[in-house]
Amino acid sequence: VSGGLLPNLPAASSVAPEIDLLFVALLALSTLVVLGVAGTIMVFAIRYRRGSSADRGGASEDRRIEYLWSGIPLLLFLTIFAWAARIYYDLSAAPDDAVPVYVVGKQWMWKLEHRDGRREINTLHIPVERPVKLIMSSQDVIHSFYVPAFRIKQDVVPGRYTTLWFEATEPGTFRLMCAEYCGTDHAKMRGSIIAMRPAEYERWLAGGTPPGSMAEQGGRLFRQFGCSGCHSPHATVHAPDLHGLFGRPVQLADGTSVIADEAYIRDSILLPRKQVVAGFAPIMPTFEGQIGESEILRIIAYIKSLGTEEVRRQ
Ligand code: CUA
Repeated sequence: VSGGLLPNLPAASSVAPEIDLLFVALLALSTLVVLGVAGTIMVFAIRYRRGSSADRGGASEDRRIEYLWSGIPLLLFLTIFAWAARIYYDLSAAPDDAVPVYVVGKQWMWKLEHRDGRREINTLHIPVERPVKLIMSSQDVIHSFYVPAFRIKQDVVPGRYTTLWFEATEPGTFRLMCAEYCGTDHAKMRGSIIAMRPAEYERWLAGGTPPGSMAEQGGRLFRQFGCSGCHSPHATVHAPDLHGLFGRPVQLADGTSVIADEAYIRDSILLPRKQVVAGFAPIMPTFEGQIGESEILRIIAYIKSLGTEEVRRQ
């Protein structure tokens, strides 16, 4: 793996070189300001020390120098701000074709799950040169998913989904760490990201027998938890139809609308009274405390798959 701008730290994702450049630019600019200010203090302290014969009269009335030394740094730092904001903006939305990986953090391990149902602990296999999108939640406290070689880090928070995306540029094994103090064994909450060439990755995906895709497992849970009793076309109970739901706007009883994303489905399972769909009675029971984070992720994958089936049929 080639070294980046920074010694001893490989730059192995598409965004890493630009983050490094930003870091070095900020470091250089800050060094310049520190040296300028500290240097001037030193020179003045020596030149105008007590008892020196330096000329102390004739202070300049010219304000231009003050405008300059305020204006130039302001412009430089605003440029840095705009540059950093653009990178942040690019990093906030994953490309549509990104490979999804579901992440659950818990004391003290990373549970990772692929679309085909394959599960891993503390190790994540991914293809290079393809964007990968992580959809992350925590089962207990706040953790932080941190891959130094990719220059990415994102908090993993209980009760909500955070996302992160990256594109690895070189095959190799990279360190995964937890970057948020999360209890006794926080320091041991480590793992590896194994970036593989596409052909090698396909071979890895094909090896072994996956336990059924996440959507298939979600479908089983959907029946097991009794969701299908109300949310199926033949049910006698009047509940919203979930076909084609994912990604669409939903009209709520209070007149507002929301996009049916991962967080919306999760809330609907755990806090069904929070967002009641217009035209439906608030009779859905909560599944808080009965269903785990990984199970919710599988049910979400199932509901997503209902969407794609719908699209295919049209
Ligand atoms: Cu998990 Cu620190």
